[in-house]
Amino acid sequence: MKTLLTTLALCASALFGTGAALAQSNATAYPVAPAAGLYQAFGEKAGLQALMDDFVQRLAADAAIGDQFKTTNLENLSRLLTEQTCQLAGGPCQYSGRNMVQSHAGLKITPAHFNRLVEVLQASMDAKGIPFTRQNQMLALLAPMHRDVITVR
Ligand code: HEM
Repeated sequence: MKTLLTTLALCASALFGTGAALAQSNATAYPVAPAAGLYQAFGEKAGLQALMDDFVQRLAADAAIGDQFKTTNLENLSRLLTEQTCQLAGGPCQYSGRNMVQSHAGLKITPAHFNRLVEVLQASMDAKGIPFTRQNQMLALLAPMHRDVITVR
């Protein structure tokens, strides 16, 4: 049920929330407004950093997509994901990494890879005690990036 709800939230966001982002590829150019209080619900910058530290460890250890992160500097990835989600959630951060097209080009990412990454992020958010509604509000902000990240269909 949880997976179904999340899938619906992601699909709804992808279909309805992101028209203006179609022509853009910058990581911070996905103009979906964050839900009120989202940044605070994740424990602000320190909470997001702790979440992303956990997330990148789970990603690297994952049986399905861990191989994709074999040569990745996980500390740096965690820092960039923290900046990105902080900014998206309405926090006082500025994402300083490459855009989503540039950073995923050549990685041959499929929809299955993308869905698995979402599941791993859900596991991290569960472990940090983030309420389900807040989890979906964050996922709704990330969902529009699928068109820039997935290159193999
Ligand atoms: C909404 C989904 C995603 C978001 C928000 C996201 C975000 C990011 C960010 C912020 C970076 C760092 C960019 C930089 O180095 O400047 C990155 C890099 C990377 N991402 Fe993603 N990503 C997503 C999906 C995926 C998926 C599905 C995969 C593969 C399963 C993936 C694999 C990677 C890898 C391997 C790197 C590191 C590339 C390198 O070491 O140069 N990402 N991602």
